[in-house]
Amino acid sequence: MRQEFASVYNPPARLFHWATALLLLVQYVLAWAMPDVHRDTKPVGLIAWHLGVGVVIVLLVLVRLLWRSVHPAPPEAGNLPAPLRALARYTHWLLYLLLIAVPLMGWANASSRDWPVTLLASIPMPPLSPAGSPVGHALGDWHRVFAWVLLALAGLHVGAALFHQFVLHDETLTRMLPSQRKRVASKQ
Ligand code: HEM
Ligand code: HEM
Repeated sequence: MRQEFASVYNPPARLFHWATALLLLVQYVLAWAMPDVHRDTKPVGLIAWHLGVGVVIVLLVLVRLLWRSVHPAPPEAGNLPAPLRALARYTHWLLYLLLIAVPLMGWANASSRDWPVTLLASIPMPPLSPAGSPVGHALGDWHRVFAWVLLALAGLHVGAALFHQFVLHDETLTRMLPSQRKRVASKQ
């Protein structure tokens, strides 16, 4: 009998994963390269890029989560003890949560500064807080703090992926790599 099973993430899931990782990298570079934001700062140049890339990230992650809700992850690879498997799953869901919360906090802060937020520099997006809002102002501080938490968690996640690959020698990483195909198992 010939049996086919998908032991890898499906192609859109892999595309979403690597697009998110790449955009996140770009977003941190922009965040640290852009000028400091003060009361009278204008949202131009690298700051405009930071807002634009951030909006794309949050929309991409929302689409990714929709996709994920109808296409579950493939079975886990390797032989991790149950508590470590649970830790990996919690880390993934926390990453998703932060990938949405961090940009929304930055967006609310931009709105409180009365900065226009647009998708692809053309489609106006709604403000997430009223201009001058003290809450929107405070969310700017939380945005920066949670951007560090997101970075630390992503670092832990990348470390775990490399640990699977080079220490445990299991198939965890290959399940997420672009070149993987559906595996075909033959049972005679
Ligand atoms: C996952 C996506 C995002 C990440 C990782 C991120 C990261 C960061 C980081 C690290 C800073 C601090 C820069 C510094 O201290 O020099 C920052 C500042 C800022 N970001 Fe983002 N950002 C994201 C999305 C967004 C979005 C979507 C917006 C708005 C539409 C935004 C608006 C801002 C603003 C206004 C500041 C300055 C906040 C302040 O100093 O009060 N960010 N961002
Ligand atoms: C830095 C930005 C990254 C973020 C935000 C991120 C986020 C995520 C999330 C949320 C998942 C869960 C997928 C799901 O089941 O729905 C995941 C899975 C995975 N990621 Fe990442 N990732 C990042 C970078 C990386 C990098 C650089 C690597 C490789 C070195 C990697 C390797 C993996 C692997 C192997 C999985 C599958 C884990 C499993 O199912 O057990 N990720 N990632």
